[in-house]
Order: sequence, then structure tokens, then C-alpha cells
Amino acid sequence: MSKSISIFECSKCGAQQPKWTGRCLECGNWGTIAEGVKNAEVSRTVNSGTVREITDLSKLQNKDLQRASTSLNELDRVLGGGLVQGSLVLLGGDPGIGKSTLALQIAAQLENSIYISGEESAEQVAQRLQRLSATHSVSFIAETNLDNILSTLHKTKPVVAIIDSIQTIYSNEVSGEAGNISQVRASTIKLLELAKTANITIIIVGHVTKEGVVAGPKTLEHLVDTVLYLEGDKYQQYRLLRAVKNRFGQTGEVGIWEMTNNGLKEVLNPSEIFLKAHKNVSGTVITPVIEGSQVFMVEVQALVNKTSFGYPRRIASGFANQRLEIILAVLTKKLKLPLNNYDVYINIAGGLNLTEPAVDLAVATAIISAYYDQAFTKDSLIFGEIGLAGELRPVVKTKERMKEAIKLGFKNVYLPELNIKLSTDKIIIKQLSSLSELMKLFK
Ligand code: TYD
Ligand code: MG
Repeated sequence: MSKSISIFECSKCGAQQPKWTGRCLECGNWGTIAEGVKNAEVSRTVNSGTVREITDLSKLQNKDLQRASTSLNELDRVLGGGLVQGSLVLLGGDPGIGKSTLALQIAAQLENSIYISGEESAEQVAQRLQRLSATHSVSFIAETNLDNILSTLHKTKPVVAIIDSIQTIYSNEVSGEAGNISQVRASTIKLLELAKTANITIIIVGHVTKEGVVAGPKTLEHLVDTVLYLEGDKYQQYRLLRAVKNRFGQTGEVGIWEMTNNGLKEVLNPSEIFLKAHKNVSGTVITPVIEGSQVFMVEVQALVNKTSFGYPRRIASGFANQRLEIILAVLTKKLKLPLNNYDVYINIAGGLNLTEPAVDLAVATAIISAYYDQAFTKDSLIFGEIGLAGELRPVVKTKERMKEAIKLGFKNVYLPELNIKLSTDKIIIKQLSSLSELMKLFK
């Protein structure tokens, strides 16, 4: 017989501790610690289980996954070719970003789908549906009780079910209010079980909130088959749908969307859209970015102003502030630019968030261009990483970036000397050996 000991677990964040406290030591919530039991010793016998039948995997290899096209091409591509039957998909993102809109669009494109909302009434959802172009009628229930949802799905057997949102669903078997970690996790596990046994594709919507990260979709990522995040600035119209995890396709794939009055529309020529408002003036530079298998051009903008008093301000939107600080430090040290006395603002046009190191050189160029109040070479783009010693580092996927540049009719491309060599007469390649060489373009 194994001995049992008591442990105390937080119902909000799942942290475990040996003693009861009024406040969780991990997440700081009050009154969330409850006693649980844990087996202290693990049994050492090896033959207490049942012997399972063994499967030969080579016999299963030719079995194709059954996929349903959503008729939303960007979504199908991000999924790896459509929704896999019987899979569990998590659709996450900030509140107000457009998750419910996208989920409803998916439901409206598919035959035999059901939309289950714990947040909105049938009237509200019907009103939204009117704005979207629906191919099929959508079945709807407003429900938050997991057991009722499971029974309904079991009986009606839809092809696709959408649960909006997982934070509003609760199970009678689990303690605590809807939205806490045990409820969210237990609901997901039960939905996963149903997806697999009844072969129903289930899409669960999850909000990512600043303070609720612990109980949010992040804790579900390992349970589900596919994790999609809808990103962007909710005050701007562009959205990126990113596959953060995908058991049935390429991870990191993105689709680009535009929020319109009639729901989310796919953007098929992102470069043209992001460059629509571009003017070749000081402080603006174009750079090719890679997101999944997509390459597109974006405009990096910088504003450099003399600091009027106190500490200089550094504010970046769509680019990491820390990375901006590093670039400024390198420019100050290596180019002897007196940026310590200047406020620097960076903005990525279109509301995109760029994390690729290849953007460094464009950010640096925009800052230098703004500092000298001189525009960068016309019809040009620039990309490359900047190291702490001021060295210009090569980046991946040069060929893809150049191809897009040629397609869009750019005349010059500036890149680090060490980047792979490409010969083409369609565009002039200007290799930069150092930051000083870059600065010479402005003097
Ligand atoms: P919503 O899908 O409700 O966001 P989430 O479920 O992620 O919280 O939509 C958010 C915003 O989108 C909302 O402010 C209204 C806007 N919207 C449009 O601009 N066009 C549309 O066609 C729809 C349906 C919504
Ligand atoms: Mg919503």
C-alpha cells in the first residue's frame, strides 16, 4: 500500500505547496488554495497493468488525413490544407481582435456546423452573421454547461463545432467558477475526448488576457492539436493568423487578414497593401519580412527629435523596445551619433509586430535617415541583423526576399556583405560591410 500525503493546490494557477495559506504564493489570489491528496510512494511492481495490443505503424502510413476545406484560402493554408476531421483547434488572441468573427465565418462556410456561445445571445450572433457572407446556415446554441454541450454534440454529430469561449464553459464535476484553470483544463480534456471518439472537429476560442495568462489558452497548448493565434493591433485593420503549433501542418505559418465592415477578408497581396501609403521621405525605410512561408514588404518609420528636458524617450510600436535600445547603443558607440540627446520613436506601418532580427538594419537606417533629415535611396530596400560589435550579420531566406523585391519592381537592395551571393540583373545589389558605409549614404 502506498502512503498518501496532503498537498495544497491553487485553483486559479495550479501551483502546489505543502501548507495551506490564505493567499496563493504563486499568483497572489486569495482563498484559492484547497487541499488535495498525492501518493507519496510509487509502486515498484512492473506487471500490474494490462498487456496492450501493438500496432505496426508502417501499415497505417498510407491512411490520409481527412480534411475539410473552409473556403477561406488563407486559413486552409495556415492549417496545412484545411481542418483535419476530429481535431481540436485552439483559436486564441486578445479580446476584441476578431476571434468570434473568424469563428463565425468558419461556421458559415461549412455544412453541418454548430456555433456554441457562452458570451453572446442568438440575436447578437445572428446580427453579426448578417454582416458576413454566409454560404451555409449556422446552427446555434447559447450554453455554458459543458455536460449539456457534450450531450448536444454527441446527439447532433456536427462536422464542426465552435466553442466561444472556453473561459465561459464550466463542468459540474469540477469545482470553482468558469474560467479558472481547473475548469478550463477539464473542459478542454473532455472536448478533446469527444473530438477523437465522435470524429467531430472542435474549435475552441480562448482569450489571452494580460492578468489571466495563467488560466488562459497558454496552459492548453499542449492538449490541443493545433494552436492558432490572431494577432494585430485592434485599432488598425490588419491581422495575422499564426499557427503556433500544428500537428497536421507547418508550424509558424501565417495568414494575413484585413478587418472590414463585412468581417475578416484575406489579404492576397500584403506588400502592396502595406506600402500603399509609403512616401520616400526622411525616416521611412522599406524592408522585406518573412512570416511563415510568406514574404512581404513593410515600412519602418522613425522619428528623431532633440530631447527637450530630462531623459531621452525611446518608444517603439511593432518592434521590441529592448531591441531598439540596443540598436541605439550601437549607433551611438560605432557611428558617434549623439543619440543620447534625442528622443527616438519607431513605428511599423500597418500595426504589425516584427520580431525578426533581419529588421534591425532597416530600423537603424530609418533612425539615421530621420537624424539627418534625409530620405533613403529611392526604390530601395534594406535588411540584415546588427550585432553588438556593430557588425552586419547575414540573415536567412535572402533569395525569397529578393524575389519579392524584383516582383514589386524595386531597383536596389542593400544587405550585409556576408549574405549569400546572388547574381541577378533584375535588381542592383549593394553590399554593406559596416554601419559606417551605411551612414555614408546620408552624408
Ligand atoms: P470580435 O470577433 O467580437 O472579437 P473577439 O471575439 O476576439 O473578442 O470582433 C471584434 C471587433 O471587430 C469589434 O470591435 C467589431 C469588429 N468587427 C468589424 O469591424 N467588422 C465586422 O464585420 C465584425 C463582425 C466585427
Ligand atoms: Mg468574442
